[in-house]
Amino acid sequence: METNNSSPARSGKRARERALLVQLRLEGRIEREELEELKLLAQSAGADICGTVLGSRQVPDAATFVGKGKAEEIREAVAREHADLVLVNHNLSPAQERNLEKVVMCRVLDRTGLILDIFAQRARSAEGKLQVELAQLEHLSTRLVRGWTHLERQKGGIGLRGPGETQLEVDRRLVRERIKKLNQRLKQVSMQRRSRRKARHKVPIPTVSLVGYTNAGKSSLFNSLTSASVYAADQLFATLDPTMRRLDLPGKAAVILADTVGFIRHLPHDLVEAFKSTLEEIAGADLLLHVVDSVNPERLDQMRRVNEVLQEIDAQSIAQIVVFNKIDLTHETARFERDASGRPARVWVSARTGAGMELLQQALAEHFRRFRRHHCLQLPPEAGRLRAMMYERFDVVSESALESGGWRLELALEPSQLAWLRQSGDFHEEYLFSEPESILAPTGS
Ligand code: GTP
Repeated sequence: METNNSSPARSGKRARERALLVQLRLEGRIEREELEELKLLAQSAGADICGTVLGSRQVPDAATFVGKGKAEEIREAVAREHADLVLVNHNLSPAQERNLEKVVMCRVLDRTGLILDIFAQRARSAEGKLQVELAQLEHLSTRLVRGWTHLERQKGGIGLRGPGETQLEVDRRLVRERIKKLNQRLKQVSMQRRSRRKARHKVPIPTVSLVGYTNAGKSSLFNSLTSASVYAADQLFATLDPTMRRLDLPGKAAVILADTVGFIRHLPHDLVEAFKSTLEEIAGADLLLHVVDSVNPERLDQMRRVNEVLQEIDAQSIAQIVVFNKIDLTHETARFERDASGRPARVWVSARTGAGMELLQQALAEHFRRFRRHHCLQLPPEAGRLRAMMYERFDVVSESALESGGWRLELALEPSQLAWLRQSGDFHEEYLFSEPESILAPTGS
């Protein structure tokens, strides 16, 4: 067993909990990176790691998951290290969690409970909070059985806080009622979100969602691109609710950029369910920016995990540009690559130093430029305001003066821009001089 002799942080307002980590190797699988991830998760939840207990088993023990001997070893480590909490990097059944708590004489939290706790701390929007509370209650409802009294439970500890906190000690019937109510409220909120999305679609701006493994740097990239200040911290799941900003691109193009929740391996299925409506935003996007932490040795595996989750939410066929972030740490140069058919495919950037940000914007602009078509318009002299608006918003390819005093303009428009133009107040159908040509606007920046 490894130990960490640092004393609990007493200088802060609230002493951080001392957590003992437990990781088993099942069926001989190497799970070194999973232990690293558990450490990050524990730190994200605000714990100080006071030690680690490792072990291996062919199959989990039915009663305690870890087995009798290992449970004894954990009990001794808990006593020696004055641990407040045991974090087990597996999903335990309610009975296993309870039995283990009795042996080790300390609170035990499994992987789902830990992830939920982090979600509870990070949720920002009303919908995110509802989703976390619901997932917490559903996870806890099976654990709300007599037996909680065998440990003194301090309020607000890891796994005990968040919107679901006040419900921990109430009986199952109340929890069921609360779950029902939450489900109804979530349904309402999700309907509101859908109508907001519809309204957004009326504006002729495509949506780009940032996706990626947790800690890849999505929020930092979002900030760097939009110069907004979204909370970014060296903690997992710094973002739970999508945050949207308009991003202007070269060539009079714009997109709505959405920051989304970080993905993680073994994200328990009910959590994917719980965050479905948040994830729906991703499924509705026109393009995904798949952000990858290029310094992480597990990056290929992480990319695969992200694509698996995308598949689960039916977003696997949405076009992706892969963004290799944190090149300031790998000393690569900022660059931009196209795939065999010439489409923007990969960009190397650093959200921290800003390197490659222009290339990324170019890649985005180029991706959407492929959908542009050329349209000719003939404007009468009195349509000067409309002409000025076109120069402001759209890509005007050429202009010539008409003898009548008006103008003939050639514009390169995305379908959504054309739709928007057609419904704008100053526009008349007869201004459209020709049917849209089916020529692709030239690619390249
Ligand atoms: P989740 O919300 O957990 O999904 O994380 P995220 O993908 O939004 O990551 P976030 O932007 O919070 O960044 C995670 C950590 O990586 C933070 O400590 C950032 O400061 C750091 N980081 C992000 N981009 C870069 C970069 O380009 N270079 C370096 N060196 N660090 C970066």
